[in-house]
Amino acid sequence: MKAKLLHLLESGKYVSGEEMSQTLGVSRTAIWKQLKALREQGYEIESAPRRGYKLLATPDTMLPHDVKPFLRTESFGQMIHYFDTVPSTQPLAHGYAAKECEEGTLVLANEQSDGKGRLGRRWQANKGQSVSMSLVLRPTIPIQQAPQLTLLAAVAVTRAIESVAGLECEIKWPNDILYKGKKLVGILTEMAADPDQLKYVIVGMGLNCNQAAADFKAELSTIATSIQAETGETVNRAKLVAQVMNEFEWIYQAYLDNGFKSIKSLWEARAISVHTNLYARTPNEVIYGYALGITDEGLLRVRDEHGKEHLIYSADIEL
Ligand code: BTN
Repeated sequence: MKAKLLHLLESGKYVSGEEMSQTLGVSRTAIWKQLKALREQGYEIESAPRRGYKLLATPDTMLPHDVKPFLRTESFGQMIHYFDTVPSTQPLAHGYAAKECEEGTLVLANEQSDGKGRLGRRWQANKGQSVSMSLVLRPTIPIQQAPQLTLLAAVAVTRAIESVAGLECEIKWPNDILYKGKKLVGILTEMAADPDQLKYVIVGMGLNCNQAAADFKAELSTIATSIQAETGETVNRAKLVAQVMNEFEWIYQAYLDNGFKSIKSLWEARAISVHTNLYARTPNEVIYGYALGITDEGLLRVRDEHGKEHLIYSADIEL
């Protein structure tokens, strides 16, 4: 009822008590009680005689009932396990996945005290300012294709940030999301597999939302940024979480139906690490060369100084 009521108010226009009660099929008294409860939770709702109610501001929380009114998905984000503070959402998501949770289950946290980054690094996720979430996927794809899901996540998050906050971000292969060269989002994809079969994939996404520049630790201040630091406006984290789910679900479905090829152009449209010289630090060597693009499988193609072409599966990229 609360989510439906919020959905009605989300239009940004006045909605009369009569209209609410008819649309939701409940009494005017029930509507009035819900509006009172919403106000107590920090929603600013104006009431004007003969016009009705208008939502002026939502509290900056991203509890499941804050996210749901913005969700337009079948499964992604329909089940949210929300935590105020956790060490990391990744192991929790592994736990739910191992217990056969539904695909699309989301573990969402307001703060992480021990966030995990790629290559054993740490990820700073401040309380109330960031989004930390891990999504459970169960694709029936060969194990070696699992890294492609990282590229899908990058496209989904980039599109969501643009639609919610109006920022056009860039993707650095495979999955760093940058704005003017500074990191806005990190993505960490982990999987569980039997020798010959993928069991599940956890896509961890960390979004810097409402940090001021001074909120980043000294070592990050020159390399990281947030949506608020760039736009000057607070972003509604609940709406952003929902929009990532909305984008991710259709992109994932298109990928399952038609393969990575169908997503490649969406990824390339945002990529800054193609058609340029770069260093690729792979686990075995550092390759310097010209990035020709990505393959239909999502591997990075780099031509080195000697004209030899390398297909890169995993690397840290320096432009
Ligand atoms: C990177 O190194 O760029 C990846 C960072 C990934 C951070 C996210 S936040 C949600 C999930 N939980 C974690 O501990 N890490 C990922």
